[in-house]
Amino acid sequence: MRLEDLLLEMETPASHNCYTPKNILITGAAGFIASHVANRLVQKYSQYKLVVLDKLDYCSNLNNLGPSFCSLQHKSSNSQNNNFKFVKGDVGSADLVNYLLITEHIDTIMHFAAQTHVDNSFGNSFEFTKNNIYGTHVLLEACKLVGSVKRFIHVSTDEVYGETEADAIVGNHEACQLLPTNPYSATKAGAEMLVMAYGRSYGLPIITTRGNNVYGPNQFPEKLIPKFMLLAMQGQPLPIHGDGSNVRSYLYCDDVAEAFDVVLHKGSVGHVYNIGTKKERRVLDVAKDIIGLFNLDASKCIKFVDNRPFNDQRYYLDDAKLKALGWRERTSWDQGLLKTMQWYTSHPDWWGDVSRALVPHPRMLTIPGSEKLGELQKGEDATDACAATPTPPPRIKDPVPSLLRDRNGAADGHVAKILG
Ligand SMILES: NC(=O)c1ccc[n+]([C@@H]2O[C@H](COP(=O)([O-])OP(=O)(O)OC[C@H]3O[C@@H](n4cnc5c(N)ncnc54)[C@H](O)[C@@H]3O)[C@@H](O)[C@H]2O)c1
Repeated sequence: MRLEDLLLEMETPASHNCYTPKNILITGAAGFIASHVANRLVQKYSQYKLVVLDKLDYCSNLNNLGPSFCSLQHKSSNSQNNNFKFVKGDVGSADLVNYLLITEHIDTIMHFAAQTHVDNSFGNSFEFTKNNIYGTHVLLEACKLVGSVKRFIHVSTDEVYGETEADAIVGNHEACQLLPTNPYSATKAGAEMLVMAYGRSYGLPIITTRGNNVYGPNQFPEKLIPKFMLLAMQGQPLPIHGDGSNVRSYLYCDDVAEAFDVVLHKGSVGHVYNIGTKKERRVLDVAKDIIGLFNLDASKCIKFVDNRPFNDQRYYLDDAKLKALGWRERTSWDQGLLKTMQWYTSHPDWWGDVSRALVPHPRMLTIPGSEKLGELQKGEDATDACAATPTPPPRIKDPVPSLLRDRNGAADGHVAKILG
């Protein structure tokens, strides 16, 4: 056992139950955070069996699971000892999920799989509902059906709390209201509601985590830090949304993998745990720190671009509850950023061509046809298009929203009265 793990055990109050999983299903582990969690668990607990389910979306990379696959090769001479299995598939497939829970004797689920990039959720938000809400629903229903799951760790985000006031000195604690502000965080909050309801209605052994931003190796470069790293490596300007005053809190991936290790073994069923840091930094300062690491000139390398449709000013978490289980943030910002830079510069081709992700407002997911519709509405092109397409009737603003009408189209009595 490593010294730091020994210290962690000693720090942890004895009153916390220690759960021992046997067969763990980790969803989304070809992505960023869950790959670190899977690699850690495979290497540290060879007695656990890990089954990884991932649909290998654009942001995933099987190489992220290199250490887990390596452990598989080392043990291949004795297949009885293999404790890692990768399955390509969608959490939205009820048949597949039921099959895996039954045939792999799953007793523990760590559910990371999701559409995760806020910018994309301004492009195709339906994908977020489908993967984040429906996907979670399928997993929950499978747990209810199979009845053998003893822990369901649902991975949510700090963004479900909505933005924190700039002058707040107390962070959001786990009982705070959820007030999401963008389609991504709304779907994460929606998934949490289902998780909570299945815990209450069917007694599913649920634990939820809400984490601050994570950074480090294996992260797809649509996210701020790897994107700035790759742009700096190419000598291109770093695009800052708005004036760069938005504040974010960042945790290094190894510390977050350790947090999930702690929640898995020491978390209490029915509880929510924030995975947070009190350290905050402005996006502009993150850019300047990266520019400094690459010895570039900040006056030439920063480009201010349009802000997001809505950009939460700040996410500030109360991190006391997880700390009470013995978890600590170990990696300083300077160390973490340096390690991240060293990894990206030594793996420049990890992601292949990611030019589409490096633009100021990437839209890796769009609603099919939506760009063309946008062009049509802009004007000139509309004339050509309309020549071949019947002209749609002009849109007349309806004073009564359709949801307030009955099925014959008449306005509800109260609404009709108000409208005179
Ligand atoms: N990255 C962060 O800073 C951060 C912070 C807090 C919480 N989170 C949460 O942590 C989790 C992991 O985030 P990440 O940044 O590692 O994500 P990521 O985007 O790097 O990876 C997501 C993975 O999920 C897979 N996936 C998506 N939909 C799927 C589906 N329907 N079926 C199977 N696989 C599917 C993708 O292929 C990908 O490998 C998410 O739930 C996210 O909301 C992330």
